[in-house]
This record gives sequence, structure tokens and C-alpha cells, in this order.
Amino acid sequence: MAEYVVEFGRDGRAGEADGRLDAPAFHRNHQAIRAVLVQFLAGKSGDAIEVGSGTGQHVVDLAHHLPDITWWPSDLNETHLQSIEAWRAYSKLANIRAPLRIDLSDPCWCPEMDGGHGPGELVAVFCANVIHIAPWRVAEGLFAGAGRYLHGGGLVFLYGPFKRGGKHTAPSNAAFDSSLREGNPEWGVRDVEAVQELATKAGLSLLEIAEMPANNLTLVFSRTG
Ligand SMILES: C[S@@+](CC[C@H](N)C(=O)[O-])C[C@H]1O[C@@H](n2cnc3c(N)ncnc32)[C@H](O)[C@@H]1O
Repeated sequence: MAEYVVEFGRDGRAGEADGRLDAPAFHRNHQAIRAVLVQFLAGKSGDAIEVGSGTGQHVVDLAHHLPDITWWPSDLNETHLQSIEAWRAYSKLANIRAPLRIDLSDPCWCPEMDGGHGPGELVAVFCANVIHIAPWRVAEGLFAGAGRYLHGGGLVFLYGPFKRGGKHTAPSNAAFDSSLREGNPEWGVRDVEAVQELATKAGLSLLEIAEMPANNLTLVFSRTG
């Protein structure tokens, strides 16, 4: 069954002295995730936000392989924000900005952009393993904000487990879904179609459904207009 972590570093696994935390899942999934983003973003420049960055390991990997993009990681958890900042410093990559505090349940989740102190119009929003470990309003906020902050043709990459046509794609995902809902009735593996409906409302269309290892998907959406 898939594992999930709400707060990294709480499982007794010691992080590094500088605050860098390690997500075991990162080592299993980052290459496949990166391959999808590189397919769509190679050669592009501009600002991209990662929401729910967790430890910060994905943003370092993406910034390394997509150097023309300026990456803005974010989270709402204080320990995660410290880990992201520690990974940013450790990486010494010039194209990663300091982490933003973003709560996706607020549809206007990037006041820095509105105030001109953050990224400019976005080329991409990347979100991995968040919307099933959060209430549905987080998915709603994700797309409302993406529709607002992405430029025309900008992309959303949404990685995680999903149902298709209301059905689980594997027994392990069904068991994972039950364990999530037992822990919190507002959580759970989401339907591709329900997510697509949110995207459509926000002016985004589904470009691709990439099959990923371990019965996960990456949904790629593009902002029309
Ligand atoms: C399972 S972790 C995934 C972390 C990282 N994306 C990865 O794949 O390794 C879920 C992350 O979502 C963040 N999160 C939960 N609710 C959120 C919200 N309302 N807004 C933004 N981030 C949230 C958590 O703090 C956590 O860092």
C-alpha cells in the first residue's frame, strides 16, 4: 500500500543538522516525475511555483534539470519551510527562490504575486502528493489560483494516485484511499474527472495523463487563452 506523510521528520527519522529532511518516496518517484516536466518545460524560461513542496527535494532536482526556469517552492508547514530553505542553500542553485508560505485552501494563494514581490506570471505550477492528503477545498484552491496566476499556455503538473471513471486503478490505491479516509473523512484519492471539472472552471484544459510507476499519474493541464 502507498505510504503517506503529513509532516516529514515526525517519524523519528533524524534530518540533517541544517534542517534538511528526507522523503523516502522522493528517491522512488523523482526521476519519473522530472521526466514529465522536462518533456513539457525543456527550453522554456520564466517563473514556476511548486505548491506543497514538503522537504524541498523535488524543487532542487527540477531546478537542476530545468535551469532556465526560476523555481519558487512553497508550503504551509513551518518545519517543511525550514527544510526547503536548507535544501535550497545546500544546492547552491541560483534559480531557486526562498520558499513562500502558501496555503492552497485560499484561492488567492500567492499574495506576493499580487503585490509584485514574488514571481511574475507563471509558466508552471507543480503539485505532488498533496490533494489526496488534504480536504477537497485544497484542490479547488489549487486550480482557482493556477487559473489566476498562470500565463496563457502555462501548465499545471499534478502528481499522485487518482481514480478514473470513479474506479480505483489498483487494489493498493483502493486500500490507500480507505486508510486515508479512516484517518480523515475529508481526505481521499481523487477522481481524474472531478479534478478535470475544477480545471475547466478555472480555464484549464487537460493535455495529458502520464502513467507513472506504482499506479500513480501525472495530470498535465494547460491554461487556455
Ligand atoms: C505528502 S506531502 C508531499 C510533499 C512533496 N510534494 C512530495 O511529493 O514529496 C504533502 C505536503 O502538502 C502540504 N500541504 C498540506 N496541506 C496544504 C495546504 N492547504 N496548502 C499547501 N500545502 C499543503 C504539507 O505540508 C506537505 O508538505
